[in-house]
Amino acid sequence: MRSRILSTGIYTPKKVVTNKDLESMMDTSDEWIQQRSGIEKRHWVSEGETTLSMATHASKEAIEKAGIDVDDIDMVIFTSLMTDYIFPGTGVLLQDSLGFKEHVPALDTRNQCTGFLYSLSVADAWVRSGMYKRVLVCASEIHSTSMDKTTNGRDISVLFGDAAAACIIEAVDESSESQLIDHKLYSQGKHADKLILKKPTPNDLRGRIHEGILDESDIWPYMDGKFVFKNAVTRMPQAMKALCEKNSVQLSDIDFVIAHQANLRINNMVLEHLGIPPEKTHNTLDRYGNTTACTIPLTLDEAVREGKIKRGDLVAFVAFGSGFTWGASLLRY
Ligand SMILES: CC(C)(COP(=O)(O)OP(=O)(O)OC[C@H]1O[C@@H](n2cnc3c(N)ncnc32)[C@H](O)[C@@H]1OP(=O)(O)O)[C@@H](O)C(=O)NCCC(=O)NCCS
Repeated sequence: MRSRILSTGIYTPKKVVTNKDLESMMDTSDEWIQQRSGIEKRHWVSEGETTLSMATHASKEAIEKAGIDVDDIDMVIFTSLMTDYIFPGTGVLLQDSLGFKEHVPALDTRNQCTGFLYSLSVADAWVRSGMYKRVLVCASEIHSTSMDKTTNGRDISVLFGDAAAACIIEAVDESSESQLIDHKLYSQGKHADKLILKKPTPNDLRGRIHEGILDESDIWPYMDGKFVFKNAVTRMPQAMKALCEKNSVQLSDIDFVIAHQANLRINNMVLEHLGIPPEKTHNTLDRYGNTTACTIPLTLDEAVREGKIKRGDLVAFVAFGSGFTWGASLLRY
C-alpha cells in the first residue's frame, strides 16, 4: 500500500495587513521588510477567527475538492505551533466541528515550521501500514496575537502571518502514478533557544501566570535571525540531497520544489545551491508571510490551482524551523 495527496484546502483571514500598515505600529518600513524578507503583506485574524475555525474551513474545502464525505476519513492529524487551548489540542475540536459520525482518532503534532512534513510522514506511514485509509492533515496558525507589535519585536512581527491549510492523504495501490515516495526528517534540540517562545511556562514556581509576567520579555517570541538564517540555508539543501540520494533521484529529475515560506532570500539561496531553476518553484510568502506549518500546503494548493504542478510530477517539499527541526519529502503528485 502507498499513499498520495488527494486534495488540498486553505483558509486565510479576511484582514490584510500591509507593510505600510506596520509602519504605523513600529519603527519599520515597507522597503526594509521587502528587501530583507520578500514579504509585502500578511493576513491577521479578526474577532471570532480561531485556529479551529480556520482549520474547519480549510478542511471542509479539502474534503469537498476530494469529492468525499467527512466519514470517509478515518484519522485526523492537526499541526500547529500554538493551539486554541493549552489543552486539549485543536485536533479533537476539529474532529468535533467537522461532524464525524464515528469517534475517529485525532492526533496533535507540534513541530513548528516542519509540522506539516512531520505530519505528512506520519499519515504516509499509517496508510502504508494499512492502519488507516484516509487521513486529514490540517495545519492552522495564529501568530498575530502572540507577537510584540512594537519596535522591540519588529524583527519577528513583520515576518509572520495567520492561515490554515489542509490536505487529504488517501491509500493507493503501489503501482499508482501518484504517490508519496519518502521523507527525511531531522531535529537538533541544542538550538531550541534560537527561535523560542518561553513563557508562560509551568516550570515557573511563582505560577504559570504570576504578577508582573506582562513585563517579562520572555512572553514574546525570540529569534536569533542571523543564526536561524544560516542554518536554514545549510540544512534544507542537505535534507534535499540526502533524500534524493536515498531514493536514487537526481536533483535535475525533480519537476517542482515547494520550500517553506520564511524568507525569499533563504529560498533563493537554497534553490540556487541545489541548481533548481526559479520556474520550478512557487512562493506565497509575499502575500501571506511565514505561516509556519501552513506554508507548504498553502503554497501547494496555489501551485496546483495555477497549473504549475500536475498529477504525476516529481515534487519535493523542504522545510526548516524552530527546534531546530527540518526535513524534506519526495512525491509523485
Ligand atoms: C530576521 C531577518 C529578516 C533579519 O534580516 P537581517 O538581514 O539578518 O537583518 P539584521 O538582523 O542584520 O538587522 C539589520 C538591522 O535592521 C534592524 N531591523 C530588524 N527588524 C527590523 C524591521 N522590521 N524594520 C526595520 N529594521 C529592522 C535591526 O535592528 C538591525 O539594526 P542595526 O543594524 O541598527 O542593529 C533575517 O535574519 C531572517 O530572515 N532570519 C531567518 C528568519 C526565519 O527564517 N525565521 C523562521 C524560520 S522558520
